[in-house]
Amino acid sequence: MKLNNFLVKRTCEDVLTINVAATGEYLGEVPAMSLEEMNGEVQRAHQSLSAWKSLSYVERARYLHRAADILRQRAEDMAIILSQEIAKPFKAAVSEVMRTADLIDFTAEEGCRLEGELLSSGSFSAGHPQMALVNPEPIGVVLAIAPFNYPVNLAASKIAPALIGGNTVVFKTPSQGALSGVLLAQAFWDAGLPAGVLTVVTGKGSVIGDSLVTHPLINFVNFTGSTEVGQHIAAIAGMKPVLLELGGKDPALVLEDADLKKAAREIVAGAFSYSGQRCTAIKRVLVMDSVANELVGYIQQEMAHLSLGLPRDNADITPLINTKAADKVEALVRDALEAGAVAVTPFKREGNLIWPTLLDQVNSKMAIAWVEPFGPVLPIIRVQSVDEAVKIANESDYGLQAAVFTNDYPKAVAISQRLEVGTVHINHKTQRGTDNFPFIGVKNSGMGTQGIKYSIQAMMCPKSIVFDCEM
Ligand code: G3P
Repeated sequence: MKLNNFLVKRTCEDVLTINVAATGEYLGEVPAMSLEEMNGEVQRAHQSLSAWKSLSYVERARYLHRAADILRQRAEDMAIILSQEIAKPFKAAVSEVMRTADLIDFTAEEGCRLEGELLSSGSFSAGHPQMALVNPEPIGVVLAIAPFNYPVNLAASKIAPALIGGNTVVFKTPSQGALSGVLLAQAFWDAGLPAGVLTVVTGKGSVIGDSLVTHPLINFVNFTGSTEVGQHIAAIAGMKPVLLELGGKDPALVLEDADLKKAAREIVAGAFSYSGQRCTAIKRVLVMDSVANELVGYIQQEMAHLSLGLPRDNADITPLINTKAADKVEALVRDALEAGAVAVTPFKREGNLIWPTLLDQVNSKMAIAWVEPFGPVLPIIRVQSVDEAVKIANESDYGLQAAVFTNDYPKAVAISQRLEVGTVHINHKTQRGTDNFPFIGVKNSGMGTQGIKYSIQAMMCPKSIVFDCEM
C-alpha cells in the first residue's frame, strides 16, 4: 500500500517502509518527510486556521460526524491494515476503529456545548461593578503525536477535540502505525474537511521530531507515548503548552476479602490484552500474602485460556511490535528469575512472540517491580498489609492508574484517595475510559488531562472581555 499520494507535492523520494509486524513482510510505505516537506504541512495548517476557526461549532461538528460515519463504513478494511501493522488481534483492531467513530461523534456533540459565560464581578470590587464575556478561543495549530499501540484511536482523541474547538491540526503518525494513521486522516478528508485543516506528517522522528515540536507555527503539543520521549518534548517545548499521556506501572491491589476469581479474570484481561502493550495495562499485583497462593492459582487458570498466534487469527497473545521490545521483556524476566523470582509459568519466546509469563515472589529489589515492560509479563508482589501495598504502589515514578479489589467499598474509596494516580478502578481492570472520563497521568505518567471534554478545554483559551457596568 503506497500512501505517498497523500502529499500534494513531494520533493524527495525517501520513504518509510512499513512491514507486517508479526512476519516482516512488506506492507506499505509512506513518505519519510524532509524538514522542508514537514514545514510545508505546518504552513498549510497555519494558513487554514483563520477560516476554520470562523466556522460555528455546529458547522465544524458536521465534518466530525461525517468522518465518524466513514470510519464505521471502513472499519473492517482499516482493521486489516491496522492489525497487520501493529500485530493487534483483528477483532481488537475493528473495535479500535469503531470506538474511534464513537469518540469523534461524542466530541462533536460535546464541542457544541462550549457556549462561553457571562460573569458579573460579585463582591470583589465593591462600588465598581464589572462584567466579563468569557469566550473559549482555539489555541491555534495543534501538533498531535500518536503512539504505535493505538494509531487510530489515540490520534483521533487529539485530532477531534482540537478540530471541534477551532484549532487546525498537524498529525504526526507513529512510524509503525503510519498507514493506519493516514487512513484515519483520509476519513476526515473524505468527510470534506477543508484543505489544510488536518495535515499529516510521516517520517522518522529522529529527522523531523524536534523541529516539529519547536516549530514557531505550532502552538500546542498533544503527545501519547513513552515517558522518556514525553519528558524530552516537555524540555524542548519552552512556553508552548503540552498535553502528555505517558507510561505507567499500574498496580492491582488485592485485599483479603476480594472476590479472587473475579480479580483473577480482571487482572489477566488487564495485564495481557494486546500482549501487555498498553500504558494502562496492569503491570504488577500487590496481593495480601494470606490470599496470594489462591489468587496465583486462579490467575494461572485464567492465563491457560489465552491463545497465542497471529493477529489475523484473533490470538490473545501476538508478537510484540519489534525485537527491541521483546528483548526488553526477556531481559526483565531473566533479571527477576536470577534474583529469586519464581516462574509460575515458564518463560518462552519465539522471535517476538513471548508466552504470557507469571512471576511470583517478586520483590522491590528486582527491576520488574518498577520498570514498565510493555509486554506479556505479570509480577506478583506479596504484602503483609494494605499500608505496605499503598506504600509500594506510591513508590513508583509512575502514577497513571490503579485497581483495587475488595468488597469493602468504603475501604476501597479510602485506599483510592491515598494512591498517587490519576484513576482508580474498583473491582475492575485498569483502562482508559470510557473516553469521556478524565484521563490523567501524574508524576512520570503525564501532564494535563485528556478525555473528550477535558481535551477540548485543554486546547482552548477562555478569553475574557471585561467592561464596567452599573448594576
Ligand atoms: O496505551 C494507551 C492507553 O491509552 C491505553 O488505552 O483504552 O487500552 O486503556 P486503553
